[in-house]
Amino acid sequence: MQIGIDLGTTSILLYVKGKGIVGREASVAAIETATGDVLAIGNEVYQMVGRNPDSLEIIHPMRDGVISDFSIIYAMIEHYVKKICGKRLLKPSVFICTPASVTELERSAILELAIAAGAGRACLVDEPLAAALGAGMDLSLTAGQLVADIGGGTTDVAVFTMGSITIARSGKVAGNALEDAITRYLRRERNVLVGRLTAEEIKKQIGCAQLRHPELGIPVRGQSYISRMPVKLEVTSTEAYLAMREHLREIAELIRGVLEETPPEMAGDIFEQGITLTGGGAQLQGLSQMLKDATGLETRVAPNPAFCVAHGLGILMDKPELLRENNYAFRTDDDIGEFERNRNL
Ligand SMILES: Nc1ncnc2c1ncn2[C@@H]1O[C@H](COP(=O)(O)OP(=O)(O)OP(=O)(O)O)[C@@H](O)[C@H]1O
Ligand SMILES: [Mg+2]
Repeated sequence: MQIGIDLGTTSILLYVKGKGIVGREASVAAIETATGDVLAIGNEVYQMVGRNPDSLEIIHPMRDGVISDFSIIYAMIEHYVKKICGKRLLKPSVFICTPASVTELERSAILELAIAAGAGRACLVDEPLAAALGAGMDLSLTAGQLVADIGGGTTDVAVFTMGSITIARSGKVAGNALEDAITRYLRRERNVLVGRLTAEEIKKQIGCAQLRHPELGIPVRGQSYISRMPVKLEVTSTEAYLAMREHLREIAELIRGVLEETPPEMAGDIFEQGITLTGGGAQLQGLSQMLKDATGLETRVAPNPAFCVAHGLGILMDKPELLRENNYAFRTDDDIGEFERNRNL
């Protein structure tokens, strides 16, 4: 059995070879504050965000695309592998996708904990590679291609040629940062505090990377910053745009920076092919047009952008030669035993 896990900052996608995507779960866990025991994981915890009693702590084990709590990641992988494999005796091969910004040490640690959590062998894949494959890009081409994955914690931009990543840059401006910007704006300009889930609703429903005509508005609940009383207010698309504008510019700058670093031949290829956007954040209204204006390049959003990475892991399962070409290798329990022995020498 082969399982793919897209370990994202906001969501975890599960892919099973032969079945496709079998689950999409929020990257959160609830732990008992007193004992540290994990009580619940994933979607059932999501609605508790900002509403949890003191006895429960809500943990986001990935922050800004970096793993901040390995024990929760371990609990999550173990839970999902068990759920997918049931009582099967043969341990699965697990492909795990991590943001490109994860360090070598963290990568080793993730592999170790995936094996401890029940994988027979585990292989780590960089997010931009999986995203590009899942977006339907043909990476075997000699021509350079550019993909930008705008997730919750990070925006990963990469240029590919002949199946491998040539340039990869990662920035911390993505979905979460846009929500924080909306929260800050409403506190500053409207004297209202709103929770994280509300900020996300504003972003998804009326948020935009270019001004909307006509302007849209939605009713929102929050808390007065002054009296601390609950309040209702209407937030407009213009306000959401103004709140996010600076961060959106930073995303455009990240892409422009990668284009500037790209050697001329490949830059010419990208000029022909345009830019492909993946990740949930690519769904922000007007983003592709805004990036097109900022870079002068055709920009398209991949179909089902939030699922590209998981689909890309599925493609890698079917094309093991791509793993070799990108120097990805499976690690097994034995390798890790050897690694541990060498470390202890
Ligand atoms: N319609 C929408 N408009 C704007 N943003 C959206 C929309 N739908 C989802 N998002 C945002 O997409 C982000 C999640 O995308 P995705 O699932 O690709 O992230 P992730 O893989 O968990 O994060 P990362 O890759 O950074 O670790 C969230 O910030 C979410 O609010
Ligand atoms: Mg992601």
